[in-house]
Amino acid sequence: MKLKDRVALVTGGGSGIGRAICERFADEGARVVVNDVRQEAAEATAKALGAGARAIAADVADSQAVRAMFAVIDREHGRLDVLVNNAGVAMGPGDDRQATMRKGEARIMEMVSGQGVQTHWDVTQSMSDEAWHHVIGVHLHGTFYCTREALKIMSRQNSGAIVNLSSVAALMGLETVPHYSAAKGGILALTRAVAREVASRGIRVNAICPGYIDTPMTAGISDLSRKLVLGRTPMGRVGEPREIAATALFLASDESSFTTGQWLSPNGGLFMG
Ligand SMILES: NC(=O)c1ccc[n+]([C@@H]2O[C@H](COP(=O)([O-])OP(=O)(O)OC[C@H]3O[C@@H](n4cnc5c(N)ncnc54)[C@H](O)[C@@H]3O)[C@@H](O)[C@H]2O)c1
Repeated sequence: MKLKDRVALVTGGGSGIGRAICERFADEGARVVVNDVRQEAAEATAKALGAGARAIAADVADSQAVRAMFAVIDREHGRLDVLVNNAGVAMGPGDDRQATMRKGEARIMEMVSGQGVQTHWDVTQSMSDEAWHHVIGVHLHGTFYCTREALKIMSRQNSGAIVNLSSVAALMGLETVPHYSAAKGGILALTRAVAREVASRGIRVNAICPGYIDTPMTAGISDLSRKLVLGRTPMGRVGEPREIAATALFLASDESSFTTGQWLSPNGGLFMG
């Protein structure tokens, strides 16, 4: 019971990694507040967790909605021990994932056939303002908005742990998703800055940079792209959401009491930094 009676908010808890984190935290005794922009998804997770859990639907990219969500948490619990900034999207409106995947596959075929690379990605030059702003908004603005409100509560307690979901995209850069890579890189820098800022208050801030994890976010990738990922991953498999939840538990609990401003990257060896 590493989180016994602690109040934990997990954003994007309606699916994938966020849901696995909610489940693991509840198993460890936490009172979990499940956020998601999709109300029914947040409620489904909260229902599965049972008594003590609660769903709050809010778009983390909307600062007013985030403020209202934290007001509810403050009113109902009067404290917040853990915030996991997990909500995320891989693509923005108008991003053509299928076209990018087709280009990826063409490049793989060119490389394996020894032709040299002839297909260009051209992702950044064709990206719309909307796609850029959406992805940066959910990840980077969302992480900032939630962190800002969480710190107001945690500063009253002089304790707390914040865990931010970054990605190997921040460490390596992923050529197919420059907006996502930039957002995740920003989250890593924000993690370090805020960790230094709030250490004197007993609040720790850390990040997780997962490799490829089997969730709805990655479900749409083609077989060939999946094989390419596995070929670059020494462990030869993608990760499970519960493996990220285990890392989140470590960073959220007293097990990591001397750890702040750091990132852990459960990635099967895809990136070794
Ligand atoms: N799956 C991976 O391979 C992988 C790798 C590295 C990092 N990540 C990161 O892990 C986190 C979780 O990803 P996942 O794979 O579980 O994805 P997912 O798509 O399964 O879940 C993301 C959840 O976030 C919610 N969400 C989206 N926009 C939101 C918003 N504006 N406000 C509130 N909720 C919102 C979605 O409704 C969804 O329930 C993300 O930050 C993602 O970038 C995932």
